[in-house]
Amino acid sequence: MSKTIIISNRLPIKITEENGEYQLSRSEGGLATGLGSIYKNGHNIWIGWPGIEVPPERQENVRAQLEALNLFPVFLTQEEINLFYEGFSNEVLWPVFHYAVTYAKFEQAYWDCYRQVNGKFRDAVTQVAEENDRIWVHDYQLLLLPEMIRVERPACTIGFFQHIPFPSYEIFRLIPWRTELINGVLGADLIGFHTYDDVRHFMSTATRLLPVNSSANMVVKKDRQILVESFAMGIDFSLFESLPATDAVREHVAALKESIGNEQKIILSIDRLDYSKGIIQRLQAVELLLQEHPEYAGQFSLYMIVVPSRDTVPQYRELREQIDQLVGNINAHYRTLNWSPVHYYYRSFPMDFLSALYATADICLVTPMRDGMNLVSKEYVASRTSNTGVLILSEMAGASKELNDALIVNPNNIGDIMQAIVTGLTMPAEEQQARMQSMRDLVKKFNIHHWVRLFMQRLAEAKKMQQDLL
Ligand code: UDP
Ligand code: G6P
Repeated sequence: MSKTIIISNRLPIKITEENGEYQLSRSEGGLATGLGSIYKNGHNIWIGWPGIEVPPERQENVRAQLEALNLFPVFLTQEEINLFYEGFSNEVLWPVFHYAVTYAKFEQAYWDCYRQVNGKFRDAVTQVAEENDRIWVHDYQLLLLPEMIRVERPACTIGFFQHIPFPSYEIFRLIPWRTELINGVLGADLIGFHTYDDVRHFMSTATRLLPVNSSANMVVKKDRQILVESFAMGIDFSLFESLPATDAVREHVAALKESIGNEQKIILSIDRLDYSKGIIQRLQAVELLLQEHPEYAGQFSLYMIVVPSRDTVPQYRELREQIDQLVGNINAHYRTLNWSPVHYYYRSFPMDFLSALYATADICLVTPMRDGMNLVSKEYVASRTSNTGVLILSEMAGASKELNDALIVNPNNIGDIMQAIVTGLTMPAEEQQARMQSMRDLVKKFNIHHWVRLFMQRLAEAKKMQQDLL
């Protein structure tokens, strides 16, 4: 029986070490949470890195534990973690693809290791892939993998999906290894992005860098036709919709309401620590609100969850310090004996608690400078079973293309964000309901199952189209 092999740098389960013991827990980030609930279907398997350096003598044990969950680990050495993961993936591709080009460090050693580790993933795939399997490669850490697999298995079916933005050609061409990267991705039969703008940027980049032909949604490279299309990723709507009714979440909601009191509105923000997420600008907007509208002091609190991420990369460490400082300043300046404007948590939370926060928050403030999709915004909408609540959403998030009924803001405009918060705090219930209902309908319809079905269907069609031409 054929299967789908999902490959991403990070597995949906990560290993952490406590007192020499390994613990397994859920990985954070949109890719892992989005696909985490569906990979278990059928005989599917997931190949990826478990998030820690595992010494050779412990690898067999870890492998057995993960394989019982249909997860196949690729072990990275500390040097590979430094050069491939922190280096090329997160100090070259991540900043460039999010238009933060001044953060990019174009080091030759990063590139050499990126190629080497993509080769390691290719070996892991070719070991388990059987003839009719569908191979589905995910995200920017593995851009070379589709072509590497194609060389080994010319006839196999390969899909590629990128979860982060694809930048315009003028930005992409800054990367010294640009041609190799595009050639790598074009090993796939179907290439997917969250938005049509990403597709456009990819198409124009491919045609400018390589001797390929292209039409609306197709690149023709030598004798192969490759489809390039947008697939806006959804979430597990029924999970997020059903969680608030469970006992565990109800208990958390009751405890939160008791500690917050009835007089205050809750503004929620949830992100991984990342400069692409606009966390500083969001705090500045809250500070501006307290300066310009002192009448709101004591009327709201910002619950800000920042999930630790990539904190060995210098820009992330610096960002953390900036956030600590700004939160400290705002609280020191505006807090009273019984009120603090910002409740800041630098940690991750289990799903039950996240659901309780979504269910309790009057406003969800999502203001990334750039974001491929942003699943937090969709999770908030799905969790609002009461149909109330206000979503403030950056126009730079892929999700803004779908969630038109959010209050859409430019994340660079602090005054605009502040104004949206005021609008949100004072929005009549009927308007909240009208907006939330239409967003809920959309998130429900275009859920994660729909996304997977559509991608797989188009992948099969792409393959059939190629075979018809032979
Ligand atoms: N998330 C999590 N634990 C937390 C906070 C958030 O697993 O403590 C999840 C959240 O539910 C969401 C994901 O992390 O599914 C973030 O995805 P998003 O697309 O918003 O951003 P990304 O991190 O992928 O850039
Ligand atoms: C984003 C990326 C994923 C990545 C996740 C967490 O969602 O698209 O590929 O896994 O962030 O980042 P990390 O570096 O911890 O894997």
